[in-house]
Amino acid sequence: MNKFLKQIINLIVVFFVTISCAQSKMHLDKDKAIEERITLLMDQMTLDEKVGQMNQYNGSWDFTGPLPESGSEEEKYEHIKKGWVGSMLSVRGTDKVRAVQKIAVEETRLGIPIIFGFDVIHGYKTLSPIPLAEAASWDLEAIKNSARVAADEASAAGLNWTFGPNVDISNDARWGRIMEGAGEDTYLGVKVAKARVTGFQGTDLSANNTIASCAKHFAAYGFAEAGLEYNSAEMGTSKLYNVVLPPFKAAVDAGVRTFMNSFNTLNGVPATGDTFLQRDILKGAWNFNGYVVSDWASIREMVVHGYAADGADASAKAVTAGSDMDMESHLYVKELVKLVEDGTVDEKLIDDAVRRILRVKFELGLFDDPYKYCDAEREKAVTGSEAMNDAVLDMAKKSIVLLKNDGNILPLKKSGQRIALIGALAADKNSPLGSWRIAADDNTAVSVLEGMQEYKGNTLVYEKGTDVSLGQQLFVQEVKINSEDYSGFDAAKKAASEADVVVMVLGEVGFQSGEARSRTELGLPGNQQELLEAVFEINKNVVLVLNNGRPLALPWAAENVPAIVEAWQLGTQTGNAVAQVLYGDYNPSGKLPVSFPRSVGQCPIYYNHLRTGRPVNSQDNVFWSHYIDSQKTPLYPFGYGLSYTSFKYENLKLNKSQYTKGETIELSVEVTNTGNLDGKEVVQLYINDPVASIVRPVKELKGFELVELKKGETKTVKFILTDAELGFYNNNGDYLVEAGKFNVMIGGQSDKGLTGQFEIE
Ligand code: BGC
Repeated sequence: MNKFLKQIINLIVVFFVTISCAQSKMHLDKDKAIEERITLLMDQMTLDEKVGQMNQYNGSWDFTGPLPESGSEEEKYEHIKKGWVGSMLSVRGTDKVRAVQKIAVEETRLGIPIIFGFDVIHGYKTLSPIPLAEAASWDLEAIKNSARVAADEASAAGLNWTFGPNVDISNDARWGRIMEGAGEDTYLGVKVAKARVTGFQGTDLSANNTIASCAKHFAAYGFAEAGLEYNSAEMGTSKLYNVVLPPFKAAVDAGVRTFMNSFNTLNGVPATGDTFLQRDILKGAWNFNGYVVSDWASIREMVVHGYAADGADASAKAVTAGSDMDMESHLYVKELVKLVEDGTVDEKLIDDAVRRILRVKFELGLFDDPYKYCDAEREKAVTGSEAMNDAVLDMAKKSIVLLKNDGNILPLKKSGQRIALIGALAADKNSPLGSWRIAADDNTAVSVLEGMQEYKGNTLVYEKGTDVSLGQQLFVQEVKINSEDYSGFDAAKKAASEADVVVMVLGEVGFQSGEARSRTELGLPGNQQELLEAVFEINKNVVLVLNNGRPLALPWAAENVPAIVEAWQLGTQTGNAVAQVLYGDYNPSGKLPVSFPRSVGQCPIYYNHLRTGRPVNSQDNVFWSHYIDSQKTPLYPFGYGLSYTSFKYENLKLNKSQYTKGETIELSVEVTNTGNLDGKEVVQLYINDPVASIVRPVKELKGFELVELKKGETKTVKFILTDAELGFYNNNGDYLVEAGKFNVMIGGQSDKGLTGQFEIE
């Protein structure tokens, strides 16, 4: 070949390389629309690379489920280098995230950045109260702010995606994950879902302090039979549409970018393989254009369920049903390419999934700056900052519910008192962090003991009384409960005998609720009930502070102990929040987001149940809906909670009594603070549709307002009802507003209030 020809060939090669380089970078052009950028990128992707985007691995140093047989650290790194990993979970900290991102961006052919997910459930390192507790605040601004600060801290640690919020409705206290949701009520659940999604995502997803959120677990996970973790859920269309789906729909409406499916079967179909849920409803009727991640290994578990023959079959079923990303099943990466090549899976399904995943990555701005969440300076400044602690303290105080306060034993006097503080949980700095606190360092909560020590005017004596658990408390292992050691009882009794007031902090340790923590008993674990009774025998001035991740059934305490404070697991600032409430520096305003049963046998118990044909004992015989050994009402109803002041409700008014369909109904009520302290009240509105084509609940929350009232002050609280509140879904999934009478009730809890009526023509 002569020199001239060689030069020509060289020039041609350079020309094509330049063109293809320019092409390969075109998706990085910020001025182009996201959909076009996705197309430009996808046009260059091989099938392997596409499937890679659908693969999520866990950083092995933190796992939240059983580890698969494959998946060594080396294999994961190899796969990242090949561009076979679209997402990692539980890799956290700017240094680690940066290191992994660097491989994806600099060593793979196309340099597609990884999206980093993490369970930011109630905070990252600085923890807010558990989600159920936050819901007890009924303070949507506070809940949104709690998610916002959590996003701030998590994003500063390199993360850009949280596996939250959990929007599962649950009315079964046996189920450990009831702690992660907003409780039993769908209306409250809808509001809280929206607050959390908007808190995490903010108004600009591409900002470096907002993160993509994930509505989970889709769907009906909270209705696991018998409250048994991972168990099946069975329910009809009407219940699914009226109770379970609305918080998910609210999350979509609020712009949630991802969904997680769930471990359970719903009516016999594993949610992960459920086309009706994921394709027909979520991506069809609701037009959701983000992506769905499986739950941990839930694709692989379809084989164990008996829904798929093997890993290949499970992968085909999952992708067909609309599960876009495989969390830790290690199956998509292994099977999907073959399944497309042999014609079992249509490549269009892969393209759809990849487009969804890339869309969120583009929206986060990861293609513009893959290291945007990896600012070590910012991480240092934000993590555990004073502002962060102030925010979680604020949320913690608002989450406390005063259940009983006979004789106004609370608030405690600030001086001249001898106070005995009893219970291992009072000095525990770990347990108040609750479950789902993977990034928080052990023992970083302010204990109740420390919080109370801040008040110096009284003499404070601490006695453990008894241990609740033995050994280390770990996320991945069973908690060992102490039932045998009574050695601290005598010292506790002595301290009680010498005290003016006894504060007992009793309940569950942090890891007694959360995933895989179902219980069949709802009393105080171990020998704490015996300790409570022994101490009460000696000194009746007991204030019981409860720590728990679920409703507890404590009939003896409710009857005997003069004051009970529901303090859940309140996160990093637990002790300060509890002390400020006990001493009256914060007047409690929380209301239960879930019914507290009298006994475990009542579960599931919820205020908005359907009417039976025999609800009341109208005749003198046994043939009515009741228990022969217990009242059927809850110990503490949904919406219940006291204050150090009192409120009076008067003058429930409606703007008229007859309406035509489509009209808005205006209601108002006067609420007066009749006590001696300023306070806040959650004014709640319930409706009941007494005759309908599908039997409606005895009562349904359809509005609430958190109002602040100075002592003596009266405010008029207004509500508006529209078709959105008055209708319901029937068994075909159609939304109906039916003519007829409606009952309405406004009050401070679900079982009491002023009543009225109106009619829709
Ligand atoms: C849980 C999810 C969680 C995931 C990742 C699973 O075991 O069910 O809620 O997001 O683990 O940690």
